[in-house]
Amino acid sequence: KKPVIIDCDPGIDDVMMLLLGLRHEDIDVKLITTSAGNQTQEKVIDNALRFVSYLGRNVEIARGSEKPFIRDLMIAGDIHGESGLGGVTFPEPTLKESDQPAIQAMVNVLREADEPVTIVATGPMTNVGALLLAHPELKHKIKQISIMGGAVLGGNVTPQAEFNIYVDPEAAEVVMQSGLPIIMSGLDVTHKAYLTQSEVAAMKEIGTPLTEKLHGMLTHYMDAQGDSPFLESYHGDVLRLHDLCAVAYVIDPTLFEGDDYYVTVETSGSETAGATVVDHLRNTDHEPNVHVLYDVDRERFVELFFEYLRG
Ligand code: BDR
Ligand code: CA
Repeated sequence: KKPVIIDCDPGIDDVMMLLLGLRHEDIDVKLITTSAGNQTQEKVIDNALRFVSYLGRNVEIARGSEKPFIRDLMIAGDIHGESGLGGVTFPEPTLKESDQPAIQAMVNVLREADEPVTIVATGPMTNVGALLLAHPELKHKIKQISIMGGAVLGGNVTPQAEFNIYVDPEAAEVVMQSGLPIIMSGLDVTHKAYLTQSEVAAMKEIGTPLTEKLHGMLTHYMDAQGDSPFLESYHGDVLRLHDLCAVAYVIDPTLFEGDDYYVTVETSGSETAGATVVDHLRNTDHEPNVHVLYDVDRERFVELFFEYLRG
């Protein structure tokens, strides 16, 4: 089993990611930390506690950032709803939040781990960035960081920026420049990792109370991508489960295609803050620092998800 820390902001697609991560037999979720993003910290930690309790799993869940490093928090209430879960409610949680704050909880897990731990990060990277800045001595205990964020081409909250990076570009840049193996599931690949409307309907047909709820969330879930005649993946009546890619890669990297590139985050551009600048033409002299995914075997990806949706 691969030891994993999940840092997320549930969030509808974060919930789908949590489901697969918690149920897959190759993954050992040691800790879940929450970062303010899709909703406020108060709401995302409540969502995480409720969802993990509902699954009947006992995992430590620790409260992370209230806001980005230096910017004001921007939430995605229009996409994920008031609660962050598209109006679907889960019962009062049986789990209590950890008495340790997120960074300390991550430190404890890393210190105690007898093999390097993978971090899966599917929200703004405030917690992970803060961990790396405060505890460089623990880097050798981190195997890799699999993130959902960024894009080679285009954005979803601004013409050039993807939400998770846009919310906290300074933190994302710390992660990108950390020297650790970083796997980036950006919009280029996550837009290809979609469910068709008939697959969404098939989810409902599984007919368990859980799939009812997940289906309910998806019917509220819209993508902020807009319609662009410039990028093929920016249209279509499909549901993109962005965050699922970050955990699916850890489970089975052969689902994806990617390559190593130099990536930096724009933190000062007046119109482009939060853009990931990827040297995809290799016309700079910088050494590659990120494994950037660009394709997914969608059929196998959807199959994997459905297998764990069923139980
Ligand atoms: C990312 O933004 C959030 O709204 C989603 O949960 C995902 O992590 C997609 O840009
Ligand atoms: Ca997310």
